[in-house]
Amino acid sequence: MSTTALRTVSILGTGSYIPEKVITNADLAKIVDTNDEWIVSRTGMKERHQARPDEAASDMGAAAARQAMESAGVTADQIGMIVCASITPDMPFPSTACYVQRLIGAHNAFCLDITAACSGFIYALELAKNAICAGQVDTALIIGTEKLTSVVDWQDRQTCVLFGDAAGAAIVGARGAPHGIRATALGSDGRLAELLMLPGGGSRNPTSPETIEKRLHYMKMSGRDVFKHAVTRMIEACQKAIAKAGLTIDDIALIIPHQANLRIIEAIGHRLGAPAEKYFINIEKYGNISAASIPVALDEAVRSDRIKQGDKIVLVAFGGGFTWGAAVVEWDKN
Ligand SMILES: CC(C)(COP(=O)(O)OP(=O)(O)OC[C@H]1O[C@@H](n2cnc3c(N)ncnc32)[C@H](O)[C@@H]1OP(=O)(O)O)[C@@H](O)C(=O)NCCC(=O)NCCS
Repeated sequence: MSTTALRTVSILGTGSYIPEKVITNADLAKIVDTNDEWIVSRTGMKERHQARPDEAASDMGAAAARQAMESAGVTADQIGMIVCASITPDMPFPSTACYVQRLIGAHNAFCLDITAACSGFIYALELAKNAICAGQVDTALIIGTEKLTSVVDWQDRQTCVLFGDAAGAAIVGARGAPHGIRATALGSDGRLAELLMLPGGGSRNPTSPETIEKRLHYMKMSGRDVFKHAVTRMIEACQKAIAKAGLTIDDIALIIPHQANLRIIEAIGHRLGAPAEKYFINIEKYGNISAASIPVALDEAVRSDRIKQGDKIVLVAFGGGFTWGAAVVEWDKN
């Protein structure tokens, strides 16, 4: 692309990677005091997947990235930027994005990780869109990849039943036509940080025998509070993004919400006034896969023909931070 004046940005291809091993609700009932009836009725989850011990976030992210590149018809050397969203990076540094770069051979890219928890993919999309609109790069690879089974406390039934492992990716690129990403609405509220966090292992609580004894290296969540804020903020973000795009809910063909709890999705659906068939739901298979949630669901929606050329869709997420965001995308892959 020689000019940036007319640049719009589209999702040109998607991919995903789901580890083989399945953990069912019955498996969890053998580890903690829980049962299938509670998990299904309170969350909608039936299964989640677990990565192999030798599989890290970058391995899963690279597998999803390869699929997205193939679906977009983009080669590794064409990628100018890799943004990797994860709360379970391979390690604090180097970035998981740099490891993905090495695995896929995208040596022309600059690479960075972002931490926006379950909203990470929407934040990555926003960064990629802005870099492309500004003419900084033509093509970006964005990834959400999580190995949450490595940070849940397997003694805490309130969290360990909820999370799984997976990765999703998308290739985002410049277009001349006025389609693609029509509008976004993002927000954060650090005043509520303590409601969902992994307190240990950083500069606040460096790893020590004491932090390990206090189990600070595991995720902590105040589920009921998170639930309330998730519903409010996801509705608000959807409404803002749809209005910014100059559309109404009736124009939207499909809503892909972050899959944290089926009851959250139903509450959003009820308040937004869109019929149930407009919501893409796969929570029963994967549980909450944080930053991988939206790109895995998007990839499944594309591959199962739930999204057609020209459809206007909404991606919406909420996560620790708190962070939230929605994007209205006019599907323009061809
Ligand atoms: C976590 C969540 C599923 C809990 O559901 P809930 O209906 O709020 O349940 P509560 O936490 O009020 O707990 C209700 C009861 O179930 C019990 N319980 C909690 N986890 C349980 C489990 N796995 N199995 C059986 N019982 C369980 C609680 O101990 C509590 O028992 P009590 O009434 O005797 O005290 C729900 O709050 C949620 O999904 N929150 C948002 C999560 C989220 O979005 N996180 C990520 C954001 S990206």
